[in-house]
Amino acid sequence: MTVTEILQLADRLVFAKQRKHLDDLQRSIIKGVWEDKTYQEIADDCNRSESRIRNIAAQLWQILSEQLGEEINKSNFCWNIERVINNSEFVNLGNNQINYCLNTHQSVNPKKKSNLSERDLTLAPQVIRFYSRESELKTLNDWILNQNNRLVSVLGLSGIGKTTLVKRFVDQTLDNFEVIIWRTLKFAESLDSLVKDLLRVCHQECKETINDRLKQLFAIFTEKRCLIILDDVHNLFVSGEFAGQYKPKYQDYQNFFKAIAELEHQSSLILISQEKCSEMECFDEDLYPIKSLYLPGLYDVNFFKDADLQDEEHWLYLINLYEGNPVYLNNIAILVENIFDGHVAEFLAEDSFVITKEMQFSFQQLFNRLASIEQKLVLEFSKFGQVVSREELRQNLELSSMDLINGLQSLQKRYLVTKIKDDRVLFQLHPVFREYVIAISVQSHPVKKLE
Ligand SMILES: Nc1ncnc2c1ncn2[C@@H]1O[C@H](COP(=O)(O)OP(=O)(O)O)[C@@H](O)[C@H]1O
Ligand SMILES: [Mg+2]
Repeated sequence: MTVTEILQLADRLVFAKQRKHLDDLQRSIIKGVWEDKTYQEIADDCNRSESRIRNIAAQLWQILSEQLGEEINKSNFCWNIERVINNSEFVNLGNNQINYCLNTHQSVNPKKKSNLSERDLTLAPQVIRFYSRESELKTLNDWILNQNNRLVSVLGLSGIGKTTLVKRFVDQTLDNFEVIIWRTLKFAESLDSLVKDLLRVCHQECKETINDRLKQLFAIFTEKRCLIILDDVHNLFVSGEFAGQYKPKYQDYQNFFKAIAELEHQSSLILISQEKCSEMECFDEDLYPIKSLYLPGLYDVNFFKDADLQDEEHWLYLINLYEGNPVYLNNIAILVENIFDGHVAEFLAEDSFVITKEMQFSFQQLFNRLASIEQKLVLEFSKFGQVVSREELRQNLELSSMDLINGLQSLQKRYLVTKIKDDRVLFQLHPVFREYVIAISVQSHPVKKLE
């Protein structure tokens, strides 16, 4: 095995994906990794920064992972690529048979028999940058691949990284499924349309009635190992009411999700949502193969490595301030670059909590989704310090006990309120959202000017 063979194979894989050959930097990275060099050593050889090399390498591993249908990274690159080259059944560099393995994820894995066209990931985002989340990926692996859980929810605030995490999981585990279909409910459709769509991807002619079509679908779920991902599931729920309540026209989905959990089959459905679905609560996780994963913030300073930021010693503080939400952090990084020329310390010295226009827009949508009781509660939260007791919230609000309790529970289901157990039970409104609520309550009650 020579480095030229390795470069040839990598070049063909990259070309098949991007219609562009490896550039000099990519070639140096592959050569360096083959020679067992660290990113720092490769960076020194090429006269570039280590973070740039890391970044380009990450994009390269991502392309190679997609092309080979398994996760490729710096530590397994040499072994995997060597294995592919040696696997002469699939690849013969000499006469260009390499094309046979391009884009056919399963062809490098002899165990796989499935038909590529039973995969539809056209609506799934491409993940180029990905940091941390090792434990969450391991959890998903365990739940879905080892324990065969049939219904798995990935939950958390908007922008926290749910879609990215699940796509990463899918990229890494493609070969384990015969059917993979990714759909988003951003523009939700009826359950029947979704079922027809899934059957179409599986090359099935749809039967007459919805019941028969559902039977057809569950027959596929039983016969083959399928992974179906439904993103943005919260769009099935009513806005302006407590969290997780289905709009009447989407009520069927609830029965569908229940059936996925209750019926015997070998497939899994991943639901990605900003609001917890009621199925997740009425089923006992010990008795049914269902699980839910709450996604916390991403507290990794590497996140800022690609941004043009200074003052690395303050990065973690900034990440904590914005609760590790990658969308907020991206927004703030751009703002610090544009206004403070990348100086994080100067931005922090401003000493006022900045909520960008994009964040305001997203919080406004979130606020509008709340039931009126929840809106009253969050406005009340904003009058107190970071943590508040139930009694304190009750004092100035004319809410019955039932409304107060249900309101708090609904806010928890949206991941806007967390319970903190000290010597007594306290509640905390999500700190960044709290700043937004403080700002809007000041706007709606402008301070009276002194005469
Ligand atoms: N682990 C991660 N590493 C790097 N960037 C991430 C990560 N998770 C999310 N992001 C970035 O944050 C943004 C929001 O992520 P997304 O998955 O769309 O959030 P959600 O689905 O929870 O709304 C995306 O642009 C994505 O690139
Ligand atoms: Mg998403």
